[in-house]
Amino acid sequence: MLAESPLIQSLRTAVAAAPDDVPLRLHLAALLLDAGHGDAAVAEVAVALQRAPGDVEARRLMARALGVPTQEGAPAQEVASAQEVAPAQEVVPAQEADSAPARPGFDWKAAQDQVGDVLPPRFVEAPLTVDGGGDAGDAAAWDVERPGAVRLADVGGMQEVKERLEAAFLAPLRNPELRRVYGKSLRGGLLLYGPPGCGKTFIARAVAGELGAAFLSVSVNDVLDMWIGNSERNMHEIFRTARRQAPCVVFLDELDALGGKRSRSQSSGMRNTVNQLLTELDGVDAGANEGVFVLAATNVPWDVDIALRRPGRLDRTLLVLPPDGPAREAILRYHLRDRPIENVDLGKLVKATDGLSGADLAHLCEAAAERALLDSARTGTVRLIGMKDLLAAAQQVLPSTEPWFASARNVAMYANDGGMYDDLVAHLKKKRKL
Ligand SMILES: Nc1ncnc2c1ncn2[C@@H]1O[C@H](COP(=O)(O)OP(=O)(O)OP(=O)(O)O)[C@@H](O)[C@H]1O
Ligand SMILES: [Mg+2]
Repeated sequence: MLAESPLIQSLRTAVAAAPDDVPLRLHLAALLLDAGHGDAAVAEVAVALQRAPGDVEARRLMARALGVPTQEGAPAQEVASAQEVAPAQEVVPAQEADSAPARPGFDWKAAQDQVGDVLPPRFVEAPLTVDGGGDAGDAAAWDVERPGAVRLADVGGMQEVKERLEAAFLAPLRNPELRRVYGKSLRGGLLLYGPPGCGKTFIARAVAGELGAAFLSVSVNDVLDMWIGNSERNMHEIFRTARRQAPCVVFLDELDALGGKRSRSQSSGMRNTVNQLLTELDGVDAGANEGVFVLAATNVPWDVDIALRRPGRLDRTLLVLPPDGPAREAILRYHLRDRPIENVDLGKLVKATDGLSGADLAHLCEAAAERALLDSARTGTVRLIGMKDLLAAAQQVLPSTEPWFASARNVAMYANDGGMYDDLVAHLKKKRKL
């Protein structure tokens, strides 16, 4: 496959930021086509047509992408009516398209029927309720790294996690009075843990959006790449900044790498970083950390230095499990938002995807789109992504969380010291895995 030029890549970014801008998308499609990325161009034009079914330029480009001889420059209306007098070819239903032989020409009328003026409904039934009503419009902001853009309402489902976050983190942070009454200071922190790709980072960003407070996000890459040799000083700097900006949340993502077991850390630099983190968490003098709250995330809490988990440090844990039904619905809706789909029964799809992580669901949507796209390119008939593609993809995608649960099971059985993993034990029992 040809590599995409920097211009195309920039345009892709622009289109992702403004998915409703049809002319922009068509510009991208035209460049893709000129660069020999025919399939990619078809996909972009299909999205454009779904947004603006009558767009003349879109129709012209689609015809060009699929190699249909049109009178260049002729108004699309004329092209369409010329096609209408031609003997109508039967429309290939989505279900049969993959067995259809490749056609030499392109049946514009059939394509028009499918992506034309009368678009099929995108979803077949009223969607399950998603709390907070984070609809596809709001969802477009999800991937943009804009602090405050993601709110807890954008996190689909996961009611229990939200309630615990509210009680253990947000309520005391918002309400100093409450803190006094319950004797809870803002010291100490919360450790989010769970299988990969299930929304820990996403939830932390939502917390940032919820607070309107300063939010300092530190991932292990920041430490290892940028601050080599300076890790401790920078760890200190992070907390100093946080104290200056209090109330402030410090988010330590991928904590396992940052604060791995001291005995296991190869380099003494890493060990010193962990020690520095311990010092910072304790605060140099009493009250130094007032208003500084630490949120951390890891896939492997059992690899996190036990010293980091002592009272006053990261003393509370919150298990983030694979997305539940409403969460899966929100995630699927988000990943399908820009794709040409028809008659998608989200309820059915949600049922078929139990156990898949957020990342798995993204992959599923990608695979389904690819299936429909290849079909369209092969048959020369544009067809939208249907339930058949999505369910087939659901069959193929295996839950990537399985290996995590295998290790977690051992920990729950043999290393649940002090009830640290009670949530995990309860979940495994419920799933009859323990
Ligand atoms: N409840 C949810 N509602 C909406 N989207 C979600 C939800 N949970 C996860 N996602 C989506 O899944 C993606 C993956 O989640 P995220 O990166 O936060 O996982 P993670 O637990 O931090 O994974 P890792 O352990 O690999 O760092 C997010 O970008 C988000 O789009
Ligand atoms: Mg993460």
